[in-house]
Amino acid sequence: MMDQAERLRQIIENLKKRQVVSQTTTLNNIKKKAAKVITVTSGKGGVGKTNITVNLAIALSDMGKRVTILDADFGLANIDVMLGILPKYSLADVLYNNKSIFDVLSNGPGNIRFLSGGSGIEELVKLDKEHIEKFMTNISLLDKLSDVILIDTGAGLSDNVMSFIMAADEVILVTTPEPTSITDAYALIKMVSKRDKDKKIRVVVNRAENANEANDILNKLSIVTSKFLELKLEPLGFILYDELVIKAVKMQQPFLLSYPKSNASKHIKDISAKIMDIKSDKDNFGNSESVGIKSFVSRIVNLLNI
Ligand SMILES: Nc1ncnc2c1ncn2[C@@H]1O[C@H](COP(=O)(O)OP(=O)(O)O)[C@@H](O)[C@H]1O
Ligand SMILES: [Mg+2]
Repeated sequence: MMDQAERLRQIIENLKKRQVVSQTTTLNNIKKKAAKVITVTSGKGGVGKTNITVNLAIALSDMGKRVTILDADFGLANIDVMLGILPKYSLADVLYNNKSIFDVLSNGPGNIRFLSGGSGIEELVKLDKEHIEKFMTNISLLDKLSDVILIDTGAGLSDNVMSFIMAADEVILVTTPEPTSITDAYALIKMVSKRDKDKKIRVVVNRAENANEANDILNKLSIVTSKFLELKLEPLGFILYDELVIKAVKMQQPFLLSYPKSNASKHIKDISAKIMDIKSDKDNFGNSESVGIKSFVSRIVNLLNI
């Protein structure tokens, strides 16, 4: 008798084969295939992940990308709180209550879309073949609707968060200048380096006092990481401490929309421009090199099982 892990592996193999077939047959009709999946994470909580995810999503959308946010902070789902919009359903409803991905997607400000993971992704590993395939079919619609999918995770070193990191195309790691936040970020990088030294981790320092402080942290973290963990970090940028961020949070609005001229907005735009730039040589957002949400989920199922 096959055990569950073996069964899932087989399903994923089948899905991969099918994906290759459908990719070649539709190649002429649909140029874009898979969305770029970017996981936003941190070692310590409360460092600004959700703020960065939401505002980065809007900045990328302003630059012409179709952006979807997946709220995967199961403990404290808070994209909806940040946006002041309460979604009716989560991915768990796709799994158990026959909802489609369209029922679960909400429209946010600035042309972005978001969906709540709920317990959906955690529950994936418990599903039978029929349910997994149904879920995969549903989730793959996200690839067609999005150029980039930003995933807002919880903090810390749980299996769940690790699998989100390992399965993504790219990782944005957020830290503040506080020593505890930096050491927790380093602990997370260390765990990633044990699994994959080639993993791309881009670091953002949030709530810095000034550019010097931020750059100093980015440099030191990069040096220590390449020396002791043999993993290359990529400094992505920083956001200074800005009272207007706190004000916008209280109004449940993204600061990029309420305070477009603020310091924080300027820095988020710098970061999004850098993300676009990194991509521009290959236009990586829409091409076949992206894992896409469908294979992202396959990888998650694999990672959580094996
Ligand atoms: N650049 C910043 N300047 C000032 N306050 C900030 C900044 N970034 C985040 N904050 C504050 O930190 C709190 C936590 O941010 P949040 O994005 O919810 O963090 P996380 O998602 O990592 O838990 C926010 O409510 C906000 O008040
Ligand atoms: Mg958060």
